Amino acid sequence: MSKGDNILDVKNIKMDFPSKGVTVHAVGDVSFKVNEGETMGIVGESGCGKTTLGRCIVRAYEPTAGQVMYTTSEGELIDFLKIDKKTMKEYRKEIQMIFQDPYSSLDPRMTVLDIIKEPLLANYPHMPKEEMERKVMDIAAKVGLNTAYLKRYPHAFSGGQRQRIGIARALVLNPRIIVCDEAVSALDVSIQAQVINLLHDLQKEFDLTFLFISHDLSVVEYISDRVGVMYLGKMVEFAPTKKLFSHPMHPYTESLLSAVPVADPAKQMERIPLEGEIPNPANPPSGCYFHTRCRYCTQRCEKEAPEYVEAEPEHYVACHRAKELALKGFSYDE
Ligand SMILES: Nc1ncnc2c1ncn2[C@@H]1O[C@H](COP(=O)(O)OP(=O)(O)OP(=O)(O)O)[C@@H](O)[C@H]1O
Ligand SMILES: [Mg+2]
Repeated sequence: MSKGDNILDVKNIKMDFPSKGVTVHAVGDVSFKVNEGETMGIVGESGCGKTTLGRCIVRAYEPTAGQVMYTTSEGELIDFLKIDKKTMKEYRKEIQMIFQDPYSSLDPRMTVLDIIKEPLLANYPHMPKEEMERKVMDIAAKVGLNTAYLKRYPHAFSGGQRQRIGIARALVLNPRIIVCDEAVSALDVSIQAQVINLLHDLQKEFDLTFLFISHDLSVVEYISDRVGVMYLGKMVEFAPTKKLFSHPMHPYTESLLSAVPVADPAKQMERIPLEGEIPNPANPPSGCYFHTRCRYCTQRCEKEAPEYVEAEPEHYVACHRAKELALKGFSYDE
């Protein structure tokens, strides 16, 4: 397998949750491919299904339907969602997830050394203790933790340092893919930048592929090669980052972009507010799910669900009017 080939082929993932007598359609028929070594961003408002999708891909949830075709380092193609427990144990190491909240995701009763070591113990119970500790030290140093402090407990560390602990824990098993779910969202802006730069350096050093989930469009724009936009459990637009941000083809994307603050006031887009609340995923609207909030909505949009198509090379969108609307995006010229 060489750089740029598909490492993940996510096909028709669907996740329904039964909840209080109704069915919540958290993710509905999402498909995309991820290239080895790239960062793929996933954006969308709160509740649109980003976390659920990420958890389905790492098989923390068993999705209702769909496939996650994974190309192993030996070049073998496997359906990550179908493999048995034993094979799963082998490949789970290769696909790791980093979570949102650096305060609640680390066990407060374990030392940082033990937290980072735990995945090694679980996967390599016969590894000599010294080797294990050496690996932990190495990885802790790589993520910028002071290795003299590893016998301390998580509460002694700041938010940014805790996120580094989470990253070290994910990296210690030598994964190939990391799903980062709001990995920097809880951090102050200056600390965010440090952690993002760290992720970027680690990506280069270890040839990592990132699936970067965030509701923060500026962060996603900065870090991603390609970006997918989700709305109410569906992928509504997907394109290389610059294309998506400069030339959005879905009205939902246009709205999201218009709300991103930019440093230069002259370049600030006119805000296109999203009217109303995000609809209930247990009872989604007819036709295009976005039609209830879309300022370009027509009768057709109310009745007929748009297909998700490659409207331009590498640019996928689900909107009846994608080709006729000239939507506004970021201007990149200096
Ligand atoms: N375990 C669950 N049981 C029932 N409904 C759930 C469950 N997990 C998520 N949901 C619902 O599925 C939808 C998608 O939730 P999800 O957490 O994936 O969204 P998200 O895009 O990650 O949001 P956020 O930006 O707030 O993290 C929401 O309506 C949520 O309430
Ligand atoms: Mg989430």
